[in-house]
Amino acid sequence: MSPSPELSVIVPTFNERENVPELVRRLASALSRVDWEVIFVDDDSPDGTAALVRELARKDPRVRVVQRVNRRGLSTACVEGMLASSAPYLAVIDADLQHDERILPDLLAAVRDEGLDVAVGSRYTEGGGTKDWAADRQFVSRFATTLSRLVLKADLKDPMSGFFLLRREVLEEAVHELSGIGFKILLDIFASVPRPLRFREIPYTFRPRQAGESKLDSVVAWEYLIMLLDKSIGRYVPIRFVPFAFIGGIGVLVHMAVLWVVFQAMDRSFVAGQTVATLVAMTSNFFLNNMFTYRDRRLRGWGLLRGWVSFTLACSLGAVANVGIATYLFQSDAAGDIGWVLSALAGIIVGAVWNYAVTSVYTWSKPKAA
Ligand code: GDD
Ligand code: MN
Repeated sequence: MSPSPELSVIVPTFNERENVPELVRRLASALSRVDWEVIFVDDDSPDGTAALVRELARKDPRVRVVQRVNRRGLSTACVEGMLASSAPYLAVIDADLQHDERILPDLLAAVRDEGLDVAVGSRYTEGGGTKDWAADRQFVSRFATTLSRLVLKADLKDPMSGFFLLRREVLEEAVHELSGIGFKILLDIFASVPRPLRFREIPYTFRPRQAGESKLDSVVAWEYLIMLLDKSIGRYVPIRFVPFAFIGGIGVLVHMAVLWVVFQAMDRSFVAGQTVATLVAMTSNFFLNNMFTYRDRRLRGWGLLRGWVSFTLACSLGAVANVGIATYLFQSDAAGDIGWVLSALAGIIVGAVWNYAVTSVYTWSKPKAA
């Protein structure tokens, strides 16, 4: 029996079949003086990445795989990979050979020998870089980095890096606070540990992808914003309430536009206009929330119909509560210090909180362990 290795390298994968064997070869050569293992965390890739890793694992005991079913997410994959290891040092690296594995021994030495908490493979320190990146991607990356300062107390040059190494204690301090949303696990860790982390950035050049394709799309940007919100105001407000309320605001505009069309342009009755406008606004709110607020619990197929019915029912009750409370406040406001605006506002807030609370339980219920 050999003891657990000193270093676990965690590799999140989704459709990376063609890159895996080469990555293992490169790790083996970069880490020839280290006692290491590699843990692939694969989200049931249709290209059979997990099966391929298991084949390698049968020949090489340093290779392991965690296959997750009905799950997606880069951040949670990294966390679960780290939790599957008992090594004192944990590294995360992408499977697509874009991160330079040759600096892994330097990352390890920085944490182990200099007593740091984290060592980060960095594109934005002296000597690092992003080869062949189009100007727009460079701009987006820099802009996102600037935004990260909202939640980050440390002066990290490359907080968006997906390539880093940390000592196990850091994971343990962070793990119950992590937001786990999206791609930016390093930033999440820095924002989740209550104390300032001791870190160093080690430069490397981000390489072009060899095979397969990137999973970074516009949704990732949205998830990034949600993660920042979660880390800044998430302690005080349930984080999904923010996009939910925002979409509610869009719903008001939709309502007004439809009302205008039916009541004014088509010259139907006000009641007809209100009815159609309410239905259209609720339906568009339902789909927007399903696409954004509850992206990770997105309803599909028949679930959509069921969800739409429960959403509409909940929001109808919410509307009744809204109007009821506003009317009550307005009418009981004999002295007139609340006024019609505040009465209406109170109704809207109660209605919105009701809609949020009820639909979060009945429409987009937490998935049962699948
Ligand atoms: N398990 C799992 N689940 N893995 C995933 C998922 C997922 O939902 N989505 C992506 N991955 C894996 C990919 O297979 C790849 O190994 C790695 O995560 C990075 O995904 P890419 O799609 O290649 O991302 P990128 O190259 O655009 O961005 C990467 O590099 C940036 C710079 O360091 C990411 O690591 C970013 O977080 C990082 O900022
Ligand atoms: Mn990549």
